[in-house]
Amino acid sequence: MNYRQIQFSEDRAEIDLYQLQNLFNIAAFWAKGRSIEDLGIVIANSDPVISVWNGEQLIGFARANSDGIYRATIWDVVIHPEYQGKGLGIKLVETVLAHPQMQVERVYLMTTHQQAFYEKIGFKTNSTTTMVLYNQPNFSVLGTGEVQLQESLGG
Ligand SMILES: CC(C)(COP(=O)(O)OP(=O)(O)OC[C@H]1O[C@@H](n2cnc3c(N)ncnc32)[C@H](O)[C@@H]1OP(=O)(O)O)[C@@H](O)C(=O)NCCC(=O)NCCS
Repeated sequence: MNYRQIQFSEDRAEIDLYQLQNLFNIAAFWAKGRSIEDLGIVIANSDPVISVWNGEQLIGFARANSDGIYRATIWDVVIHPEYQGKGLGIKLVETVLAHPQMQVERVYLMTTHQQAFYEKIGFKTNSTTTMVLYNQPNFSVLGTGEVQLQESLGG
């Protein structure tokens, strides 16, 4: 394998959604079966989006969301199985962290099995602050008009 031709890219326009779908299906258990349309929405709403290429082949991917100053979250970190264990995963996460959007107070990520990998980069286990809401809740959209607050009983 010729590693000199492996390149990291910040250009989201380069992402081939079909290759990304395939990479997730092969190596990302949480992201199998995502549709091309949904992946397009994911890319459009993430910054940075980092991809790793061996020539024309997409072999790695990671993305993040950031408020640009306080908090950012990294998502969907994956290296193609044939390229794992060569240092590309660490370089991928470091490339995400070096992006201007990621110069924030705290960077979060969720991982089921890869704690030891992220610890090598400096992440710490944080079991005290994280909560999650599953499924799509039925929150009604607030209009721009008056909002009726729940009346307090007594007091
Ligand atoms: C996790 C993943 C991105 C790591 O990428 P990678 O290219 O294989 O990792 P690297 O080669 O950069 O590993 C760097 C170091 O981390 C170690 N490492 C990698 N994965 C590890 C793991 N699961 N547990 C412990 N150490 C790990 C390597 O041994 C290496 O250590 P060294 O520098 O002391 O030799 C890759 O294995 C992957 O895509 N896995 C499937 C998808 C996934 O689980 N993604 C993470 C979701 S949160």
